[in-house]
Amino acid sequence: MKTSDYMVMFYASMIAVPFLFVVETLLLASGYIKFTDIIEILTAVGLAVYCVIGFKEVYSHKKRKVNRLSDETSIPSKEIKIKHNRGEKVLEVIIKRFDLEGRRLEAHTYKVKGNRFTTVLDALLSIKSEQDSSLAVRYSCRMGICGSCSMVVNGRPSLACETPLLDTAKEDRIEVEPMRAHPLLKDLVTDFDDFFSKHKKIHPGLFREDKKEQMNASSIYNQSREERDVYLPFSYCIMCGLCQDACPVANSNKDFAGPQALSQIYRYATDSRDQKGPKRLNLANSLEGAWGCEFAGACSEVCPKGVDPAAAIQSLKFKMFAGEDKISD
Ligand code: SF4
Ligand code: FES
Repeated sequence: MKTSDYMVMFYASMIAVPFLFVVETLLLASGYIKFTDIIEILTAVGLAVYCVIGFKEVYSHKKRKVNRLSDETSIPSKEIKIKHNRGEKVLEVIIKRFDLEGRRLEAHTYKVKGNRFTTVLDALLSIKSEQDSSLAVRYSCRMGICGSCSMVVNGRPSLACETPLLDTAKEDRIEVEPMRAHPLLKDLVTDFDDFFSKHKKIHPGLFREDKKEQMNASSIYNQSREERDVYLPFSYCIMCGLCQDACPVANSNKDFAGPQALSQIYRYATDSRDQKGPKRLNLANSLEGAWGCEFAGACSEVCPKGVDPAAAIQSLKFKMFAGEDKISD
């Protein structure tokens, strides 16, 4: 029972008890009832009061239950239902699959149902699980972090897990193909060995002259906010390889280091904690390095993390113009 119910009982008894007392005294005085009858009457009235309050309590509890259901379940679920159903469509997904034996791309067409929450990766995985299990797709995080699901969607190098299906489709059709700057393995899967080895060549990591101290650091390497802000935007690279695929130079010259590796040279060269100095910049000083860049800007255009490799490469050129790559004796 709620506090308010006890209050009702209290006020009811404040009125009922004196009223009964007066009535019983009159009846007793006039000889209509005996003293034992008074106890029976009081017991009956008490029971009646409890019955009324008990009934009221059960009834109001039931009512609350009904209200709770209508407040918390039926109304929001109705809204969710409307949202989920909004704009569901059947799209044509054309996948240019790389056939390793035939060594050519073959277009396969599938129909996929999607709504505004469906990504291209979702569509590919639904094709794989419901229509064609032989389709090869690489993915891992499904949230734009691992860089595994890179492919070309409607002609643009993109992360499949971050590309909305409906918004990207044109006339209810969407075309998916593997990246071309990386060797093809199967269907939409490309080989990243060369891409990773180019990244490895630039020594991605902090270089300290005192190796012993680096291995057994006694304190952290302090850095001001201003120092950190210089390289921070370039440290967001997830190595998805999309910039490499968009770059016209990387597509025509396999020896070109590529926008990813070059932007990472800049990232470490501008980190105040790094002590590689001119040696780091020297890694970019060749025609296969920064000087090979024709500043098309496509790398920065497609980067899903806003890294801007084109700006990094031009900054490397400026540093080399300024002679910062010269090793002093
Ligand atoms: S720079 Fe951007 S596009 Fe290039 S690998 Fe890094 S995250 Fe991907
Ligand atoms: S699955 Fe990880 S970035 Fe797309």
